Amino acid sequence: MTTVPTLTLNNGVEIPQLGFGVFQVPPEETKDVVLQALDVGYRHLDTAQMYGNERGVGEALAESGLARSDVFVTTKLNNGYLDHESALLAFQESLDALGTDHVDLFLIHWPLPTVADYVARWRTLEEIYASGRARSIGVSNFQPSHLRRLRAETTVVPAVNQVEVHPYLRNDEVRAVGAELGIATEAWSPIAQGKVLDDPTLVRVARQLDRTPAQVTLRWHLQRGDVVFPKSVTRSRMEENFALFDFELSATDMADIDGLDRGERTGPDPDTFDYVPSAS
Ligand SMILES: NC(=O)c1ccc[n+]([C@@H]2O[C@H](COP(=O)([O-])OP(=O)(O)OC[C@H]3O[C@@H](n4cnc5c(N)ncnc54)[C@H](OP(=O)(O)O)[C@@H]3O)[C@@H](O)[C@H]2O)c1
Repeated sequence: MTTVPTLTLNNGVEIPQLGFGVFQVPPEETKDVVLQALDVGYRHLDTAQMYGNERGVGEALAESGLARSDVFVTTKLNNGYLDHESALLAFQESLDALGTDHVDLFLIHWPLPTVADYVARWRTLEEIYASGRARSIGVSNFQPSHLRRLRAETTVVPAVNQVEVHPYLRNDEVRAVGAELGIATEAWSPIAQGKVLDDPTLVRVARQLDRTPAQVTLRWHLQRGDVVFPKSVTRSRMEENFALFDFELSATDMADIDGLDRGERTGPDPDTFDYVPSAS
């Protein structure tokens, strides 16, 4: 079976560089989809309270028969939990849904800088980390200024920053600040939800290497040193996206793909995104 390389986070925890994301996997399908991903060989799952499918992830973990320590599990604090008490409660609900007493990584999903103080939320994550119920903690969608403010005002350096990155959005400034502060970058929507796959440069490189544009794009991320977790509900694509470790992109291929950057987001701008679900 393929061995996925791991990266060592700033607290010594190892994370598989390739995982499987479950954004937009319907809750009722999640158990089956994740069981297939585990069967393909993925050992790193990326979910979130916002996705509404943590329970399905937990059911798949239980049914797979794998040891808890064999699978790296990430979830994220939803935007509605802005105060200390509700964040702690929401975290416990995640553990219950996932059927585990700890996660490997817990993230603040969005900074919401126009809504509430992300530093206060980070202190709650520090408390969760100290309790041992999250082996590592990090952030998502944090901009360079947000990372620097956390570094200046809090104790624990985030282990990761999970941000949108793909060939049309290299997002190199936030990646560079992360690298400077010891924060690993996780690249979300690594194939831009499919939007990059018809790109003539990616199609050309893929033809030359007898690979697919998705494989070339994911390989580009890995060679840049980021963590990725492509999502697919389609078994053949799960397999395709996992077959990344028997070929390499040349420096020229890497530079050609770097050249596709056009600062184009598929998701919201973290500086202005202010969506907070109403209490149900
Ligand atoms: N922190 C955040 O704010 C944030 C935001 C977005 C995403 N994420 C995380 O990042 C993960 C990945 O991002 P994403 O789900 O937005 O997008 P993605 O992985 O870039 O793309 C997923 C889409 O591409 C299709 N696809 C997958 N592999 C393919 C292949 N080999 N060939 C052709 N099409 C393929 C999938 O279709 P099918 O499923 O129909 O096969 C799906 O429509 C998420 O699942 C989530 O865990 C985090």
